[in-house]
Amino acid sequence: MKTYNLAVIPGDGIGVHVTDAAMEVLDVAGAKFGFEMAKTSFPWSCEYYLETGAMMPADGIETLRGFDAIYLGAVGWPETVPDSVSLHGLLLPIRKAFNQYANIRPHRLLPGIEGPLRATGFDILCIRENTEGEYSGAGGRVHQGRENEVATEVAIFTRAGVERILRFGFEQARARRGHLTSVTKSNAQKYSMVFWDEMTDLVAKDYPDVTVSHMHIDAMAAKMVMAPQDLDVIVASNLFGDILTDLGAAIQGGLGFAASANICPDRSGPSMFEPVHGSAPDIAGQNIANPIAAIWSAAQMLEHLGEAAASEAVMAALEATTRRGVGTRPGASSTDEITAAVKTALSAGPQA
Ligand SMILES: NC(=O)c1ccc[n+]([C@@H]2O[C@H](COP(=O)([O-])OP(=O)(O)OC[C@H]3O[C@@H](n4cnc5c(N)ncnc54)[C@H](O)[C@@H]3O)[C@@H](O)[C@H]2O)c1
Repeated sequence: MKTYNLAVIPGDGIGVHVTDAAMEVLDVAGAKFGFEMAKTSFPWSCEYYLETGAMMPADGIETLRGFDAIYLGAVGWPETVPDSVSLHGLLLPIRKAFNQYANIRPHRLLPGIEGPLRATGFDILCIRENTEGEYSGAGGRVHQGRENEVATEVAIFTRAGVERILRFGFEQARARRGHLTSVTKSNAQKYSMVFWDEMTDLVAKDYPDVTVSHMHIDAMAAKMVMAPQDLDVIVASNLFGDILTDLGAAIQGGLGFAASANICPDRSGPSMFEPVHGSAPDIAGQNIANPIAAIWSAAQMLEHLGEAAASEAVMAALEATTRRGVGTRPGASSTDEITAAVKTALSAGPQA
């Protein structure tokens, strides 16, 4: 039987609950499709930080390196640990260390979900640059607390970094409906974003079968609300992709439905799969977190690992669940009830 070594970082708050849900569904998928997930759980979280002074041990990255994939729930507990510490101490280092430069976030309505828009037939794949740009971590502060205080945050766009994320986006577009929209703000940001536009046109020459549009981030925000059905693949920088995918989550029914994959395309390191949402301290411990985003992220992981049939079966089980009205309205079904419904649908679905 094929065995995958999976590093599991449940993290904080609802991250722990939705990770449990996703792992249960993976076990059902493994039993049905003939593979095993050998899971190693790591307690790295804000609680771990309060105990040890670090979000993960000094050799944390090396520990993760040998795994086939990483599954992460959510990290953050702003009441006790600043978000800048939890983000820069765990998530961002993992994304950078393993060259997970492509963050893939699908946005579409599962059956039975009523989004806030009139449009229902959209299917968007947002590709967010995940290792540089506005979140490169370059910058500094001087004269702190004084009148003349200065803070800088330097957005870094390298030719290699921009080219590879665009190529990744074009490949995705080629495998889907053949349209790519590159999102910038090149009217106002005249260096990095003009460079991004130029790189888009350059890379586009290698993909004559893909049609390309350029859009500014503000116009794209409006487009995702007014005519999301016209969009196929969107490629955006780290910050722009971060913001657009929260909008994408909103139009697909909320953060409880938004999945994401942090992909290392050359497979030189493990990729990481996590729901878009955070630790949701406001609902943690109440068994009302929606596990669908987490389970969808697990389906993305199965696809990446080469278990395409199992991935499709998990997605079909999610769809069967929401089609019955389970998990479609916030708070109406508990985390456990939704998870059980997905597991039942997966067990009952077509065999491998
Ligand atoms: N990738 C990550 O680990 C990640 C992502 C975003 C935020 N965070 C962290 O999480 C903490 C809380 O952040 P936040 O409140 O801004 O964002 P959040 O995503 O945790 O919550 C935003 C709102 O959405 C709701 N929500 C989120 N996921 C839900 C789900 N699965 N089911 C039902 N409702 C859900 C929450 O109850 C809350 O009202 C912060 O520390 C933040 O830094 C972590």
